[in-house]
Amino acid sequence: MSGIVGYIGKRKAKPILLDCLERLDYRGYDSAGLAISDLKQIEIRKTEGRIKDLRDLLLVEPMESGVLGIGHTRWATHGNPSSVNAHPLGGCTNQFVVAHNGIIENYPRLKQELVKKGHTFTTDTDTEVIPHLLEENDTGDFEETVCKVLPLLKGSYALAIMSASHPNQIIAVSQDNPFVIGFGKEETFLTSDIPALLSYTREFYPIKNGEIALLTPDKVTIKTCCGEILSPNHITAAYNPQDMMLQDYDHFMLKEIFEQPKAVEETLKDRLDADGVRLPELEDVLTDERLQNVRKIHIVASGTSYHSGMIGKKVMDHLLEIPVSVSYSSDFHDEHPTLSESNLVIFLSQSGETADTLSALREAKRHGCTVIAVTNTAGSTITRKADCTILTKAGPEMAVASTKSYTAQITLLMVLTIWLADKTGGAGEKDVSDLLRSLARLKQDVESTLIMTKDAIDQFAQVTYDQDHLFLIGRGFDHVLALEGALKLQEVAYIHADAYAAGEMKHGTMALITPGVPVIALATQPHVLDKTISNIKEVKAREAFVVGITTVDDELVESVVDEVMYIPSTHPFLMPILAAIPLQLLAYYSGTVRGHDVDRPRNLAKSLTVE
Ligand code: M6R
Repeated sequence: MSGIVGYIGKRKAKPILLDCLERLDYRGYDSAGLAISDLKQIEIRKTEGRIKDLRDLLLVEPMESGVLGIGHTRWATHGNPSSVNAHPLGGCTNQFVVAHNGIIENYPRLKQELVKKGHTFTTDTDTEVIPHLLEENDTGDFEETVCKVLPLLKGSYALAIMSASHPNQIIAVSQDNPFVIGFGKEETFLTSDIPALLSYTREFYPIKNGEIALLTPDKVTIKTCCGEILSPNHITAAYNPQDMMLQDYDHFMLKEIFEQPKAVEETLKDRLDADGVRLPELEDVLTDERLQNVRKIHIVASGTSYHSGMIGKKVMDHLLEIPVSVSYSSDFHDEHPTLSESNLVIFLSQSGETADTLSALREAKRHGCTVIAVTNTAGSTITRKADCTILTKAGPEMAVASTKSYTAQITLLMVLTIWLADKTGGAGEKDVSDLLRSLARLKQDVESTLIMTKDAIDQFAQVTYDQDHLFLIGRGFDHVLALEGALKLQEVAYIHADAYAAGEMKHGTMALITPGVPVIALATQPHVLDKTISNIKEVKAREAFVVGITTVDDELVESVVDEVMYIPSTHPFLMPILAAIPLQLLAYYSGTVRGHDVDRPRNLAKSLTVE
């Protein structure tokens, strides 16, 4: 959610900053800007739109070349997307120039006080208070001035700051918002997301709360705000820059849908064998003694990760004897006032940076709960805050819509559930061995599903391109799947897609079913198939156009729907993985046939680092 980059070294900063911003624009893409210093003065260029619009502006208004600078790509929170509200922002005099991710919660009061002192504001952003505060508190010493201002700010921030009086320095700070230093050869970088820098370096240091990083062309100094100099340990990023390229695909979303067999394979690698599962990452924290004391499990996540969590809860309900709840991260504070040390809380987050999820995690820690993070991003904030982390191994997910991370999360939740069942007792041996066998052939089933559904879904998207409303229905696991399918269609195709529990339609929603309205009926769960078929008949009786998604061994659904799509049959717990694939493809093809930028849908961003 907004992206910051910085460069300081011997090369020209502008092309490097633009290149990194382009790689980072999934974090926000409504406006962008650069501030570059030629070691004498700072120049700023900003525009509404994306990085290509910034490049166009720079053709008309070129910048002198400089060897240090900062750049920003924005996802608007305060103030509409415009060149005025774009970052980097200066105060009255541009003495200080700031790029900011996050939200300054107390900005109205700060702004009021600054206006009284004679400061003139030109933007609608919360961020603008920062350069004005720096001007107001300027001691002449850049670092000292920043340290005076930071305690005045409430909220979350990653800040890259430049000073006209110190044009050879950048200061970077972070409070509950990801900001990482990248170490190159005789050059240093800043980024809010490691993938943006992988073509330049693999050595990183995530700046922590309360630290201040001083970057000059010769060195990087990291201090505490009390002035103590730190010797930080670098982390080495494991991603391959090739993973972040489109290769032969038109869009990252399609590439990532087709990477799901690999995501499953990598996530299961070294964790699964015929006898059971291994999760050594958990063993130090989740000792037998600690597990004996677990009285409740909470699963907490947002968006698509929340849907994976709903599947995880259902599976745990079957295989564990411990009560399990699932919450939206943004509601967790309200829903669980009785958290305690006997609670195990599992946080799911692809990015590991979602502010709602991190805030819920802090709440769980405050109550003494044991916290497990399930994330796709090694080194992310969540991995540093949780008691232990298990990584999904889906590889970097660049499209805003989550696809392969959903598949990998559910896969890993199966492994985690089997692991917990083994440690805490409860699950029948047969339940577990059936699931293990199905997990072992999951990669092949995912591959077959892609092959079986791709063309049919493409065609369906072409013939329904003029439909703005669509319903998805299903029971149990299939209802969760419907929710995930609807989210994808809303997000990428801008279709008003609604998901309902199939048995609930008759309690109200049936009033919306009119002749010809498309309904996707998910019928992948054998134990509720008869009831689902009755529900399909109910919508058919109102002349809906029904597409059924069912398994190859089913013989009943075809006769009650207008069109049927078959997918392989596997363990019912894993059907939400296979059946998600045609829904992901439907969102993708419906988005592209409508001419949308499916990788960068309107109003959205990849990691949401504000609450
Ligand atoms: O990185 P996270 O898994 O924490 O992100 C949570 C949601 O923002 C994310 O799943 C979002 O809903 C996706 N864009 C949906 O495709």
